[in-house]
Amino acid sequence: MFSHLKRGCYSLKRLDAQAGMGAAAAAALRYGASPAPSAAAVSYGARRASSSTQAVASRGRLKAMDELPGPSFLTSLYWLFGKGYFQKAHQMQIEHSKIYGPLWKSKYGPLVIVNVATAELIEQVLRQEGRHPVRTDMPHWRTYRELRNHAYGPLTELGAEWQRIRSILNPRMLKPKHVSTYTGAINQVVSDFIFKIDWLRQTQAGGTIVHDMAGELYKFAFEGISTVLFETRMGCLNKTIPEETQKFIFSVGEMFRLSPIIVLFPKSTWPYLPFWKHFVSVWDHLFKVAGDLVEKKMTEISAKMKQGEPVEGEYLTHLLVSEQMSVNEVLGSITELLLAGVDTTSNTISWALYHLARDPLIQNQLSDEVSSICPGDKVPTSDDITKMPLLKAVVKETLRMYPVVPGNARITVDNEIVVGDYIFPKNTLFHLCHYAVSYDAQNFPQPFDFRPERWLRNADRFKQHPFSSVPFGFGIRACLGRRVAELEMYLILSRLIKHYEVRPDPSGATVQPITRTLLVPSTSINLQFLDRKAQ
Ligand code: HEM
Repeated sequence: MFSHLKRGCYSLKRLDAQAGMGAAAAAALRYGASPAPSAAAVSYGARRASSSTQAVASRGRLKAMDELPGPSFLTSLYWLFGKGYFQKAHQMQIEHSKIYGPLWKSKYGPLVIVNVATAELIEQVLRQEGRHPVRTDMPHWRTYRELRNHAYGPLTELGAEWQRIRSILNPRMLKPKHVSTYTGAINQVVSDFIFKIDWLRQTQAGGTIVHDMAGELYKFAFEGISTVLFETRMGCLNKTIPEETQKFIFSVGEMFRLSPIIVLFPKSTWPYLPFWKHFVSVWDHLFKVAGDLVEKKMTEISAKMKQGEPVEGEYLTHLLVSEQMSVNEVLGSITELLLAGVDTTSNTISWALYHLARDPLIQNQLSDEVSSICPGDKVPTSDDITKMPLLKAVVKETLRMYPVVPGNARITVDNEIVVGDYIFPKNTLFHLCHYAVSYDAQNFPQPFDFRPERWLRNADRFKQHPFSSVPFGFGIRACLGRRVAELEMYLILSRLIKHYEVRPDPSGATVQPITRTLLVPSTSINLQFLDRKAQ
């Protein structure tokens, strides 16, 4: 065990040294999901149907991929940049499905993307995803890692190696008995967030409004996931945030801003792009922050071992001590978990509060539900949450209306597959239009209304198709952080609604989503927080 840690210390130092150097690569589709039908997003891409496939198709009643309708390259560019859908790619899913039907192809240069926009067809793609499902090959993220000798993590790894990593990372992220052990740590972060809200509103005239909830919740989510992963507090909820953390937040934002732009260009041109160095340097910073935290944990573990003390801990300690991964691999995975685990949860909580503020009836029902399970000052635990169906329905409805990953992707790497009336060759890139399906009135009557009750189990519940809203993805490649994300969202929403009555921005401003790799609010969500006890 010692030798492993020593090896680790050495390799980490080497990594840090490399992180200080210049140039290299890549950004990316964080989830491989594409903002624009990932516009460029994936160099991998679907290829034209092979002649053999066409032969198969013409013999039977199945049609070939070439027969699919869809916009040309120029038309796609016109939609993205002429009509302004680059930041509204989620909305473009809906518009294009109206024009072309539920299955259409989009061309981006040599890249062909097959868009899928009904729950039934999405199910068909996902059920044929193969042994080692691939979202995209994420060339920009992978290139960066190659240049810096970093290991791939669960987002970027492929094939059997990806499966090996997931089998190591999964248990303490997804098994309910492990996840519930994070409750106490997350609840401490929630308590600090409630204090922060109290302080923030006092700094404003009137003493109730808090500006930019998504920004505040970003710090909450960063603190929450760091507490789970690194078993340490980062100080994100202090009045003054540590400079490193500020820079981390900035770097994540820049990486996501640049990712969809970089993938529009051929890989060979990346080093000459004016923003390439910046892109590489923000990645360097993300790895540096995670690297410092990993190194700090290794030093703690070594000190304990030297003194003969038992080494106990949760996620990172377990990964380091169990020796199932090299330290380089641990760093690669932890960095990706940290990246994936922040603005996903923070944006979802922001949207949930935004709608609860605009719907006092549902908010009061939720407050009653929480108070009935946790009367007085009782702080909700993971056990209590299981008795709060409305709370869960609020989160489901929020994720239906604002799927953080509005369009996921799969590349069929094993075999040719049949979807609808079409047969597709190996290596076809499918863009799963989850946003469009979430707003399909056949799945969700009055789709533009926030109606959590549609998810409650009662006699007249409308039966949605099981693939009509899959915000955490599907199958063995589904979200690794789902259980932790849900726990965080349930614990913070239940406490906030128990503590405060949340009211909308008095200016009456409405907020629309935009696609910035992920679906995020286009403008600040400002909310009023009034003490419930004082009323
Ligand atoms: C509201 C919160 C979240 C949502 C809606 C969400 C959604 C998703 C989606 C749609 C995927 C792609 C799944 C697929 O392709 O089938 C994904 C993958 C992933 N998520 Fe999340 N996520 C959330 C929070 C988190 C958190 C908190 C973490 C980390 C602790 C995390 C870590 C990951 C990782 C590592 C992957 C890649 C898994 C793989 O490719 O094997 N996510 N997530």
